[in-house]
Amino acid sequence: MSAARPNVLLGVCGSIAAYKSAVLVRELRRAECEVRVVMSAAARAFITELTLHGLAGRPVESDAFDAGGDNDNAGGGSGSGMKHIDLAQWADLVLVAPASANLLAKLAHGLADDLLSMTCLAASAPVAVAPAMNRGMWENPATRANVACLRERGVLIWGPAAGDQACGDSGAGRMIEADDIVARLRRLFGDRPLQGCTVVVTAGPTREALDPVRCLTNHSSGRMGFAMAQAACDLGADVTLIAGPVALATPTAVAGALRRMDVISAADMAAAARAQLTRADVFIACAAVSDYRPAAPARRKIKKSAYSSGGFALELVETEDILTSAGRRHPHLFRVGFAAETEAVEANAKAKLLKKNLDVVVANRVGAGDGYGFDGDDNQVDVYWRGGGAHLDPAPKTELAERLMRCIVARYRETAHAREQSDTA
Ligand code: PMT
Repeated sequence: MSAARPNVLLGVCGSIAAYKSAVLVRELRRAECEVRVVMSAAARAFITELTLHGLAGRPVESDAFDAGGDNDNAGGGSGSGMKHIDLAQWADLVLVAPASANLLAKLAHGLADDLLSMTCLAASAPVAVAPAMNRGMWENPATRANVACLRERGVLIWGPAAGDQACGDSGAGRMIEADDIVARLRRLFGDRPLQGCTVVVTAGPTREALDPVRCLTNHSSGRMGFAMAQAACDLGADVTLIAGPVALATPTAVAGALRRMDVISAADMAAAARAQLTRADVFIACAAVSDYRPAAPARRKIKKSAYSSGGFALELVETEDILTSAGRRHPHLFRVGFAAETEAVEANAKAKLLKKNLDVVVANRVGAGDGYGFDGDDNQVDVYWRGGGAHLDPAPKTELAERLMRCIVARYRETAHAREQSDTA
C-alpha cells in the first residue's frame, strides 16, 4: 500500500457476516492500515466488542454520546468532543463491512440516528460498503434503489458475492471475503501511474448478422478485455470500455473512472472506437473483432427450403480493422494489440506488431483446449515490443491483466519519454 498507513474506520452492522469483520480487522492491520471500529447496536448481537477491540488494538466505539470513551482523536481530527466528527475527520476511508440493508437505507436517505450512520454522514473521505443480507432483501426493489442512489453519489459498493446463505437460501447477498476487501483497498490507496491518462479498451466478440436470427461470431467471453479495463482503471486511468455482446458485469471503478459502451457488430465497435479515440492516450484492442461480415444480410429469416441443393455459399466482405485505422488517424496514440493464434504464436504475433505498426502486442495461444485464451478464467501470454519481450506465467485473467498493465505502463512511459526527447532535440 503506497499511502502510508491509511486510517480505516471500520463500521460493523448486525449480520451473520459480522464474524468476518474479525478476520477483516486482522487483515487490514496486516496491510498496514490503522483501524478503528464502530459497531452498530445490532452488531453486538453477532460479535463481541472484546474480540474486535483485541484485534484492532483500540477500544471499539459505539455510543455517540459517551463523553468518556476513546475520543482521543489520535489521527489528527479536530478533537471537537463530538465523537462522530472526530472519527469522520480521522478516516482516510470509511468502510462498512458487513453493511446491512438497514444501514444502506439510512445512508441513502441521510438518516443519522447512531454513531455509525452519523459518522458516515459526516465523512468527507470515501465511503465503501460491503453489503451482507438475505438474497430476497438484496433483490428487494427498495434495496436496489438505495444501492443505485448510493452508487450514483460515489459510495463504493463492494460485493455482495453469491452463494449459499446462512438462512438456507442461495443467491447474491454474501459479504465478500476479507482478502477481496483488502485487495480493493490496495487499489484505492495504491500508486496511480495512469492518473490523468485516457484509455480505451475493446473487449469481447462481435456479431455479424446473416439474417435477423443468425450471426457469425466467436468464442470470446470478454473476460480478458474486462480485466484489462479494470486493471487500467485501478492504476488511475479514465477508461472507456467498448464491449461486444458479453454477459459480464461492468468492472467497479475504485481508483480511476470507467464507462462502458455496449456494441454488437464490428461496424458498431469501429464507430464507437472512432468517437472515443479522439481524446485517448492509450488504445488496448482486446476484442476478437470479426474480420469478415456477410456482404448482404437478409432482411428476413433465410428459409432452408430456399436452397434445394442442400447448401449455399455465403459472400463475405472484410470489416474495418479498428486497430490499424486508429494508428492511421492518431499516429501518437499508444496502441496495444492482442494476437490470438493457434500456431506459430511468436512469429505471427511479431508479424502483427509490425504489420499493424503497434507499440505492444500481447500474444496468446487459442484453441489448444488447455483452458487458456478464449472463454476460460485463466490465460498465459507473451508480450512483444520492438526490441524486447516478456513472458507472463499462467494466472487468472484478472491477475494477469494487472501484471500486463504494469508492463504496458512501463512501455508507455518509455515511449512518451523518447517522444519528449525527440521533440526537444
Ligand atoms: O474474451 P476472452 O474469452 O477472455 O478471450 C480473450 C481473447 C483470446 C479474445 C484475447 O486475449 C485476444 O486474444 N483478443 C484478440 C483476438 C483477435 O481478434 O486477435 P486477432 O489476431 O484476430 O487480431 C489482432 C488485433 O487486431 C486484436 O487486437 C484485435 O482486437 C484487432 N482487430 C482485429 C480485427 C479487426 N477488424 N479490428 C481489430 O481491431
